[in-house]
Amino acid sequence: MASGKFGNVKHISTEGYNDHAQSYHDWTQSRPEGLEIRQNMVSKLLDELGVSEGASDKIHGLRVLELGCGAGDPITLRLAAHPAVASVVANDISSSMLAMLQTSLTTAGKTSEDKVEILEEDMMAFDFEPGTLDAVIGLYSLIHLEQDQQVEMVAKISRWLKPGTGHLLCCFASAESLGKVNDNFLGMRAFWSSLGTTKTLEMLKAAGLEVVYQDVIHEHGDAEFLWVIARKA
Ligand SMILES: C[S@@+](CC[C@H](N)C(=O)[O-])C[C@H]1O[C@@H](n2cnc3c(N)ncnc32)[C@H](O)[C@@H]1O
Repeated sequence: MASGKFGNVKHISTEGYNDHAQSYHDWTQSRPEGLEIRQNMVSKLLDELGVSEGASDKIHGLRVLELGCGAGDPITLRLAAHPAVASVVANDISSSMLAMLQTSLTTAGKTSEDKVEILEEDMMAFDFEPGTLDAVIGLYSLIHLEQDQQVEMVAKISRWLKPGTGHLLCCFASAESLGKVNDNFLGMRAFWSSLGTTKTLEMLKAAGLEVVYQDVIHEHGDAEFLWVIARKA
């Protein structure tokens, strides 16, 4: 893994989330408002894909990629249980996070487990055939990349999505930041960067993604996120 101007940010994420997987999981589960935001956003994505829960599913066989899925609770598990979803590639750079996901999938049962392919890898290090994914989801994960890496990642995501119907659901920090290493996020080191709201929206457009939903949501402390759902043009 290469080192950039902030050190090796991939290494910071791998080490941090490997050592603190359980504390991050406990923290997310202790914040119902954060879980509700994730769930609401995924419901909006499912609406855009035409497969809202409760509706008669006319579309089946959705192929979904989740980048930085963490322990997958609740979102990867929800996707795996959805009747319209055929497969989920659940990616994360942390083996500890993915081990927690595997345990939850085993508990969820064979139908969910069989749908999920776990991919332990830096999200920038793999590729998909162009135009083959129905949805890509990145919840609080692309924020851990450097600014130029976010631009590269969004361009890759756009290539992977099906033209006209493929959608990205992602959140970015709303305030611009060249990059920052926090020495104590839940006890671990963590790196974040952001292009900020205006340039993030420009980045999505430049990548050929049409924003169909956007909202800036303030969460805990000074954390504020730009949430977007964008359709591949
Ligand atoms: C803040 S957590 C979010 C987890 C989950 N998506 C959620 O909503 O709670 C960020 C996740 O992204 C993962 N991550 C960070 N950098 C990554 C990278 N370059 N490639 C893949 N996963 C990464 C971390 O290991 C961690 O599980």
